[in-house]
Amino acid sequence: MHEHIKERIKTVIANLNALPSMPEVVTRIINMVNDPNVDFKLVAEEISRDQAITTNILKIANSAYFSKGKEIASVEKALVTLGMKEVKDIVVVAATKQVLDKPVIGYDLAKGELWKHNVAVAMLAKKIAIDKKKKNLADLVFTGGIIHDVGKTVLAIYVASTFKDLIQSTVDNQITFAQAEQLLLGFDHQEIGQIILKKWQFPESLQNIVRYHHDADDAPQSDIEAVAIVHVANTICQMAGIGIGGDGLYYELSGKAIEATGLDDSELQHYYGITPELLKMARQIM
Ligand SMILES: [Fe+2]
Ligand SMILES: [Fe+2]
Repeated sequence: MHEHIKERIKTVIANLNALPSMPEVVTRIINMVNDPNVDFKLVAEEISRDQAITTNILKIANSAYFSKGKEIASVEKALVTLGMKEVKDIVVVAATKQVLDKPVIGYDLAKGELWKHNVAVAMLAKKIAIDKKKKNLADLVFTGGIIHDVGKTVLAIYVASTFKDLIQSTVDNQITFAQAEQLLLGFDHQEIGQIILKKWQFPESLQNIVRYHHDADDAPQSDIEAVAIVHVANTICQMAGIGIGGDGLYYELSGKAIEATGLDDSELQHYYGITPELLKMARQIM
């Protein structure tokens, strides 16, 4: 254990200003959309208040992935044409891009790599949810996928100075990279991610996806399905080498997650096989 690093990380997470921030409008939209009785006019008003976000939202809404050929000229039109949950996904994409689209040195990720990885995981997770007739989870796993590795942006500099030890520890102890982070730094990128989402006041189900995306076996029963879908999508993208850095090969697929998703070997292989297509889709909103 690198005690001095653990102490430094403790100081960082105790200081909310040192953690990435999120426009308040995003937190409000995410929580509003969870309310089944919400009025879409209120959502439109809320979004339109933030001009920068509105511009980005319209750009993303008109990408082939979201628009499916329709022209979206305003936030109201987006809500009517695409639906509230799709628009929420778009809001999250627009807002998290600033946080994730940068080089993440310790994990050996060039600019754009973490962003590409998270977008691909989000798209695959959503596809799995829809294919497995869990449409009610589609927007949750998409949003969770987009932010699942956000903790890396904070942990990166500590991983950078201990990278060799971390890799050595995965080999010596036969553990995953996240477990090595935990062992040597006292925290892993899942925990830090959850702390960031708490700061942003994102719903608990999203916090659980971020917190357990490598440790699906330990996920609370209430969110096991959503966690499992993101876990599987993440592992498949890692196996396919999408936006992975130095830690990419040091994770494993959870048996409990496979059970919770109900995916069999041929389905897993199918998803692995469509990863080039997935990357093409991801580029549409990057
Ligand atoms: Fe991760
Ligand atoms: Fe990941």
